[in-house]
Amino acid sequence: MTKATKEFDVARHFDESLAAKYDRRIRQFCPNYDALHRMLIPWLQGLPAAADFLSVGAGTGAEVVTLGKIFPRWRFVAVDVSPDMIKACQARATDAGLADRVACFTGRLQDYASSASFDAVSSVFVSHFIKGRAEKLSYFKSISENLKVGGLLVVADLFGEKGSAEFTALLDAWLRSYAMHGVSDEDLIQDRLHVEKDVDFIPEDDLFTLLHEAGFSTPIRFYQTYLFGGWVATRVH
Ligand SMILES: C[S@@+](CC[C@H](N)C(=O)[O-])C[C@H]1O[C@@H](n2cnc3c(N)ncnc32)[C@H](O)[C@@H]1O
Repeated sequence: MTKATKEFDVARHFDESLAAKYDRRIRQFCPNYDALHRMLIPWLQGLPAAADFLSVGAGTGAEVVTLGKIFPRWRFVAVDVSPDMIKACQARATDAGLADRVACFTGRLQDYASSASFDAVSSVFVSHFIKGRAEKLSYFKSISENLKVGGLLVVADLFGEKGSAEFTALLDAWLRSYAMHGVSDEDLIQDRLHVEKDVDFIPEDDLFTLLHEAGFSTPIRFYQTYLFGGWVATRVH
């Protein structure tokens, strides 16, 4: 059985070997990856100068480091279920001189017991790995519970209606873009299988319904690259 056909375990998938390769591979996979993180900034500029920010599925620390440099008085909590990814995040925050403003938690967000209420939360490329409506709703409710009412969520994920003509065209264009980055044939096959089997795509309308049920305003889509979307929403209750 190949890695891609086993039942998907997100912490095992994002293990040390992938954490080390992640920063290179994600830029092949998502050609606008750095732009996405920079595009979060304008949505967050109205927050307090000393805001508390929660990075969910912090990975190797892209949000924390980008935002930590722009907002010098913010404090961050980085949560990730993968010990290897959170280790990479911590090292990157230290290298960027942010160690005293970044606290790390290893585990699922759903198991993170916060005493604080955050001004804003990011969830970048996380919830598409959470399978099933009930699990996704529980994830978004956990985000909402960690946010102040009126706080901001920036969420980015793969999305779309599997099987629709638009989805098929975007998937095809996306994989051709990925192939242009000198990726080996073996990686192309494995990664296509990974996307088909491990990503739980949902249409944008279903994502909006889940976010409404979790207490958020109607999201605004501010970003799209092939099947990757990015939205901003406010916790309303
Ligand atoms: C594709 S990476 C994204 C990392 C980072 N946000 C970025 O923009 O590069 C997804 C991360 O989410 C983490 N993850 C998945 N489900 C999670 C959950 N329920 N709670 C916390 N982290 C989770 C994975 O371990 C992985 O590090």
